[in-house]
Amino acid sequence: MKLMRWVSLLAITGLSAARDYAAHDNYALHISPNTRPQDVAQHLDLLFDGPLGELEDHYLFHVETRQPDYDHVQTAIEDLRRRRRKREAGAELPNILDHVLFAQKQELHKRFPLHKRSVLPRQQDLPVDSMVQKGKELAASLGINDPIFQEQWHLYNHVQPGHDINVTGVWAQGITGKNSTVCIVDDGLDMDSDDLRDNYFAAGSYDFNDHVEDPKPRLSDDHHGTRCAGEIAAVRNDVCGVGVAYDGKVSGARILSGPISDADEAIAMTYAYQDNWIYSCSWGPPDDGQSMEAPGILIKRAMVTGIQKGRGGLGSVYVFAIGNGAANDDNCNFDGYTNSIYSVSVGGIDRKGLHPYYSEKCSAQLVVTYSSGSGDAIHTTDVGKDKCYTNHGGTSAAGPLVAGIYALAMEANPHLNWRDLQWLTVLTAVKIDQPSDWEMNKDIGREFSHQYGYGKADAYALVEMAKNWTSVKPQAWFYSPWLHVKHPIPQGDKGLTSDFEVTADMLKTANLERLEHVTVTMNVEHTRRGDLSVELRSPSGMVSHIATHRRNDAASAGYVDWTFMSVAHWGESGIGKWTVVVKDTNVNEHNGTFTDWKLKLWGESIDAASQPLLPMPSESDDDDHDDMHIPTVGTTSVAVPTETGSPEGNPDDHQHRPVNSKHPVTATATPTSSAASSSTSASTTLPPNTGDEKVEDPDKPTPTSSATPTSTSMSEHLLPHIFPTFGVTKKTQVWIYGSITLILIFLCALGGYYLHVRRKKKRWMSRDDYGFEMVDHDDDGHDGPGAAMNGNGAVNGANGAAKKKAGRLYDAFAPDDSEAEDAFGLGSDDESEGRPSKDRYRDDEPLRPGAGVR
Ligand SMILES: *[C@@H]1O[C@H](CO)[C@@H](O)[C@H](O)[C@H]1NC(C)=O
Ligand SMILES: *[C@@H]1O[C@H](CO)[C@@H](O)[C@H](O)[C@H]1NC(C)=O
Ligand SMILES: *[C@@H]1O[C@H](CO)[C@@H](O)[C@H](O)[C@H]1NC(C)=O
Ligand SMILES: *[C@@H]1O[C@H](CO)[C@@H](O)[C@H](O)[C@H]1NC(C)=O
Repeated sequence: MKLMRWVSLLAITGLSAARDYAAHDNYALHISPNTRPQDVAQHLDLLFDGPLGELEDHYLFHVETRQPDYDHVQTAIEDLRRRRRKREAGAELPNILDHVLFAQKQELHKRFPLHKRSVLPRQQDLPVDSMVQKGKELAASLGINDPIFQEQWHLYNHVQPGHDINVTGVWAQGITGKNSTVCIVDDGLDMDSDDLRDNYFAAGSYDFNDHVEDPKPRLSDDHHGTRCAGEIAAVRNDVCGVGVAYDGKVSGARILSGPISDADEAIAMTYAYQDNWIYSCSWGPPDDGQSMEAPGILIKRAMVTGIQKGRGGLGSVYVFAIGNGAANDDNCNFDGYTNSIYSVSVGGIDRKGLHPYYSEKCSAQLVVTYSSGSGDAIHTTDVGKDKCYTNHGGTSAAGPLVAGIYALAMEANPHLNWRDLQWLTVLTAVKIDQPSDWEMNKDIGREFSHQYGYGKADAYALVEMAKNWTSVKPQAWFYSPWLHVKHPIPQGDKGLTSDFEVTADMLKTANLERLEHVTVTMNVEHTRRGDLSVELRSPSGMVSHIATHRRNDAASAGYVDWTFMSVAHWGESGIGKWTVVVKDTNVNEHNGTFTDWKLKLWGESIDAASQPLLPMPSESDDDDHDDMHIPTVGTTSVAVPTETGSPEGNPDDHQHRPVNSKHPVTATATPTSSAASSSTSASTTLPPNTGDEKVEDPDKPTPTSSATPTSTSMSEHLLPHIFPTFGVTKKTQVWIYGSITLILIFLCALGGYYLHVRRKKKRWMSRDDYGFEMVDHDDDGHDGPGAAMNGNGAVNGANGAAKKKAGRLYDAFAPDDSEAEDAFGLGSDDESEGRPSKDRYRDDEPLRPGAGVR
């Protein structure tokens, strides 16, 4: 504790001085809790700078040289290892490197503000006289004398009545954002503007581009953040207009005005996170319909830290603009920020309630609100003493309005946690009166559309519901095992389907009562990624289009451990059959294979008291596919939907697919297999929320374990051939087979488990022998784009190699075999020293894929 305090002091003074990217090489390290960062620095010849924001046991270091293609830490660790190996016979060896759980050289990269779109000619519609009069009376009663208030149609629309965020009734109750603080993570915030000065919160602000205290717009085109800030907290005075929460506070984190490292972005996302309640982010990867980028691991950890510890434990609220790439076929599920379960993704509608050409659609979109289109845009504050702006638009302008509404809700009820706000948003959004792919979510009685989410945010309805809202119980989760498909994807209208049956028992074991977010992590190889699309069908019949065709996306990368997200299944129980359908609708020379997938259900826990917090995400969370196998009792079926008579995709082949050969079996054996699938989970005892998939899904020493695609069909063949019916009813058969399977699986699992651990151990041993040659080899690639992206940790899928390399970096810090055993609970626990939270940190070790965001 003392150490931490001292370290924090250092950090505050060192925040600006240390990270000089022009002169130094900077490193972020995650080290074991009982290790002194100073000792690590000494052993690795690093200079210690201080903690990495709010990330527990993460620190920043630098070396006083700049060598773009050289990783000092990796090399130093390799050296130490080599020396250790040579002196293996009993010599004293520095074991400090075993306590380095993660290291990443920090590289600069640029984040882009979402495009500022120019807006077409002013709208010609005439004001509705009675509405104009009412607006004037309203302004007078609220004491609003701001000169452009009447132009702020998004607050009070007297031309298209009803097309505003419905906020005046909230203000009339005196709820104006008092005590709420929104941090604008953007290109600065003009704290000297007469329209923002009084609401500026300096202590929550920092300039991460120039490393100075105030995030003042310094470049000629730094206006974006100021305009966003004006939408939220422009002061009620005689300058321009007002913000949605005009008595709330705004702070600024300037990150978009130059390149920034992952470490700095991670610090920004939790900056002053006890006082900054909401982070408003109107930026992301390019909306070109080709990019597929996710935040690097440090940034992901920052967001999880934010939702777990920010705002006194209620959780920081991240609001993200969904992206402006609709005209490029872009889809917000290809953006790892907007499709994070920790962010509220906001799309746009225009002042006539129409869908603007730019606003993307996706299954991760929660809500929409007003922005540019139909001849007008958002009117707000601009950079300058008393400058206003009439042309703020794109989804950039939508996100901050929702952030402002949240500021109001938080004043009305300061106890709302981060998931409460998402519930309130879902339950109070107003359906858009436009044709779209609306689907009724029967569990919550709300309609969802990929274009509009659950509809438009209504400030009045949301704040009213917030007042008496009872907080949801803590978040729980359920992970399926990796489901191996390994099957070519047919071209044309057919899709390749794969199922997973979730049983009531599984969810009970996972302590999961009802769903909020659903994520699917998947691997698909394809020579043209944009040809692919993916649907997720839930037991209730809701269909999420988790991936859509993107005409510009010619990458031959496929999906590499990419996580898609859907909010369409909000409120469902989750019990029943989940189906993924992968399609390649473009019949051309480009083809591919659906490799595997993993379903993750997130939602409210059953028993709040026993629900632990999610372990910090790690880059190896989704690794080790090769160690995972489908339980031999086929929980997944590989099937081309039986749209018969369209022989395009190679019908002969289909005849041999498991689904077809399964048909005769289905009548008698299907219940067995689903009963068995639940017993699979039951017999392996560990609750899914430990996130330890290896134990959950051990190698099975069965003849089928090396040929997964056939294992599905084999097992389904085996059952009916080998086992008699006993002349009893199907139900009884199910019971008998279920019990037998359960026992068998238990025995297999037990055997497999030990085999697995032994094999694992062997692998680590042999890897240790040449592990660093592997890493060295990686170094060769440092000039390539993959290497640069790896440094940023920001690319997922666009470059499969980058992802792989990141994995290998972890390998460099692989713990010794003794620790490998420990990770499985087999070894001695001699280094834990009674630290209760130790388990959490272990999840960062490469051996143990912890539960995570993706
Ligand atoms: C808008 O707010 C008013 C109160 O000012 C409320 O009566 C009305 O129901 C709200 N509109 C919607 C769609 O909820
Ligand atoms: C705002 O915060 C101050 C100081 O913490 C407190 O005294 C006040 O009651 C709060 N106001 C509201 C509306 O919550
Ligand atoms: C909300 O809570 C207040 C105070 O507890 C109570 O008076 C009011 O009736 C409640 N409103 C609703 C709609 O439940
Ligand atoms: C893709 O097409 C090539 C050439 O037609 C073929 O050799 C290959 O097997 C196909 N791959 C898949 C996965 O369908």
